[in-house]
Amino acid sequence: MITYTIAVIVGSLRKDSFNRKLANALIKLAPRELVFHHVDIASLPLYNQDHDFNPLPAVKQLKSDVENAQGLIFVTPEYNRSMPGVLKNALDHGSRPFGKNSWAGKPTGIVGASPGAAGTALAQQHLRNVLAHLDAYVLGQPEVFMQVKEGYFDEQGNMSDKTRELLQKWLNKYVAWVKLHAADAALLGTGGRKP
Ligand code: FNR
Repeated sequence: MITYTIAVIVGSLRKDSFNRKLANALIKLAPRELVFHHVDIASLPLYNQDHDFNPLPAVKQLKSDVENAQGLIFVTPEYNRSMPGVLKNALDHGSRPFGKNSWAGKPTGIVGASPGAAGTALAQQHLRNVLAHLDAYVLGQPEVFMQVKEGYFDEQGNMSDKTRELLQKWLNKYVAWVKLHAADAALLGTGGRKP
């Protein structure tokens, strides 16, 4: 069986994060050919361009986790109508040094959960803008804007059947997206990067 390593980046550091629960729920629903790796963004320092050529181990780890993945999934909350700063910090780290952008060419999915009525729509849109610039291949549709509240996930992280169906549809499309780009990369011999 061919497997695909998927790096999961959760934009919340909160212990009881809804978005981490959502990430874990997606992982549970995924086919066995996807092997997930949670990327640690909590250990990253604040980005400082002075350190581009002398990165801390946490930065090296982030870049290698992303570069070794065949796909990325961002699971993001919305903070003040955008993505959280911790997530933008991770994107900036991965984008540098100049010419060594780790995000380029990676098939990417975005989902998010928030108690707010718009369910992270604005955060996701901002994230899409940044990822377009970083040359990641972001899945367009379907979109997942989850409005959550306490009790949405049970003790085991399970959700209602309706939500599970929605996530399954998203996952099916995402898996096809990853495979499409893996085939493309194999054909081009680029390992997922643009020539
Ligand atoms: C929020 N929250 C929020 N929600 C939203 O839908 N739109 C928003 O603009 C904001 N802004 C915002 C700013 C800050 C600083 C905080 C701390 C929170 C609420 C947010 O969605 C909620 O706290 C979620 O529970 C955060 O996601 P996690 O940590 O549960 O994954």
